[in-house]
Amino acid sequence: MIRLLFLTLSAAAIATIASSSNIEVSTTLGNIRGVKLKSRLGEEFNAFRGIRYAKNPIGELRFKNPQPVESWKPTIFDATKDGPRCPQDQFDSPDNSEDCLRLNVYSKDLNASKPVIVFIHAGGFYGSSGRSNTDAGPQLLMDRDIVLVTINYRLGTLGYLATGTAEAPGNAGFKDQVIALRWVRDHIRNFGGDPNSVTLLGYSAGSMSIGLHMVSPMSKGLFHKGIAMSGSPALLEKYKEDQLDLAQRQAKLLNCSVDNIDEIVKCIKETPFEDFLKTFDKMFDFGYHPMLNWRPVIEKDFGQERFLTDDPVAALEQGNFQKIPLIVGMTKDEFARIAYYNLKDEKIAKKMNENWEEIAPIMLHYRNVTNSKENSNLLRDAYHMDKEIIPGTTPFEPFGKLYSDGVIGFPVHRFVHLVGKYTPVHYYCFSYKGRFSDFKYPGDTAYGAVHHDDLLYLLHVPRLAPLFSKTDPEDKIVERLTRLWTQFAKTGNPNNKMDEYLKNLEWNPFTIEDENYLNIGDEFSMGKKLFDERFSAWEKIFKLK
Ligand SMILES: *[C@@H]1O[C@H](CO)[C@@H](O)[C@H](O)[C@H]1NC(C)=O
Ligand SMILES: *[C@@H]1O[C@H](CO)[C@@H](O)[C@H](O)[C@H]1NC(C)=O
Ligand SMILES: *[C@@H]1O[C@H](CO)[C@@H](O)[C@H](O)[C@H]1NC(C)=O
Repeated sequence: MIRLLFLTLSAAAIATIASSSNIEVSTTLGNIRGVKLKSRLGEEFNAFRGIRYAKNPIGELRFKNPQPVESWKPTIFDATKDGPRCPQDQFDSPDNSEDCLRLNVYSKDLNASKPVIVFIHAGGFYGSSGRSNTDAGPQLLMDRDIVLVTINYRLGTLGYLATGTAEAPGNAGFKDQVIALRWVRDHIRNFGGDPNSVTLLGYSAGSMSIGLHMVSPMSKGLFHKGIAMSGSPALLEKYKEDQLDLAQRQAKLLNCSVDNIDEIVKCIKETPFEDFLKTFDKMFDFGYHPMLNWRPVIEKDFGQERFLTDDPVAALEQGNFQKIPLIVGMTKDEFARIAYYNLKDEKIAKKMNENWEEIAPIMLHYRNVTNSKENSNLLRDAYHMDKEIIPGTTPFEPFGKLYSDGVIGFPVHRFVHLVGKYTPVHYYCFSYKGRFSDFKYPGDTAYGAVHHDDLLYLLHVPRLAPLFSKTDPEDKIVERLTRLWTQFAKTGNPNNKMDEYLKNLEWNPFTIEDENYLNIGDEFSMGKKLFDERFSAWEKIFKLK
């Protein structure tokens, strides 16, 4: 009798249902109130949104390493709805706030020990968020048996100002991710998650982040598997110790003096975040190029905890990283959309015609690489872009492939080849063409499988697609993708012969000899040497082994 009572009490300490729809979880920091929501197929789950994991990074904390949140006892943290997003100019939102270091936890069974998936969002380090109402709805993955965490991190200048001085050493946005992962390590048990089985799931900028966490001394031991979708840290451009040129540009745009570094930081530290957003368009060299404008840096030592202490590509090459099982891949058509809009743009087309050698390295991310001028012409030939561009007339497909390969495809290819020597990698190409897409062309039909399209079958992205029902044609791809990814999160291997949706699949890991990849289309099929001709051209032109 006493024993029974004890069990009941201990369960009650973990989770008490406050009302029919509210739920409360206790942590060492304090209690957190959430709500019950329904998954895509109608299963109930607990949602805790907008949980603050770090102090509001304002005042002296701007541009600095994040500080973990302090206990809010005895009040109850209200996590019943989405929190703010980090300040950004994309996709108009009134919910920008610097107090954005928040995470969201979704869990069906609070009294369990389920594998945890932590989603690191896309957005080029200047946009998007982990929020459920705009970018990362949990309803699809909540039909599977995992705990899902989605996180925000600082963006743009607020997240990545890197002057190479103690006041703004750089990488603040990555350190936010680390603090969120430490929160997961310390508290996820209270939500039914297993802190010893954490899978990072990253898209684009979030995927590049995973590669960096693999080499970062700060992230050691905080995760155990990785799913890196359409993004890679294996850039052709050398990592630098600062982005002083970008800091100066920002200071000028904010009407701050650019004479010395301390003045720059002091002045822009006092500028309201809204002013940064007003200058967003002008922070790029032209158009929105280079896409990777705010970058990771190798930090100088000012006594701060450093996210990157060495060149990440060299570390990957030397096998000097966390050797975790990985899923890595890309979509078939990645950034065809951006090629389409750029070739239609009179100004950019003119630049491409007249100054290709100057602007290709900026657009395609190999600025300041040896022979970048000569290489620009070799690339242009390799992708058969020999004719003058006539806006609105010249087919955008060749540039679509070149741009996609420069920004996403080739760095992903390099990443797979670097880490594939040391650790098991399941490599994929996502080619499923659905009804919903981030690029409709021609008319209202999806062009193919572009950047973000595969994400629509893992997370609910209200901006791009509805919540698919059981009778929608997308049901099958949702089932397959969520099952592959969660099977991997559980075991480190996406194959599962016991699963009705996966039983015919034999996804062999990537090897340097065979270069296997899985084509994820209407059906599954194995291939070898993804986009061999295109990626071989890059290897030859840039004289990589
Ligand atoms: C919670 O888990 C423990 C250990 O597995 C079990 O004994 C207990 O009955 C569970 N409580 C509830 C409320 O499910
Ligand atoms: C900087 O000064 C210019 C010229 O006075 C003004 O137009 C602009 O709005 C100012 N920018 C900011 C961010 O205050
Ligand atoms: C490229 O090199 C030039 C000249 O050395 C330098 O001024 C510029 O800051 C560099 N740009 C980048 C992005 O490294």
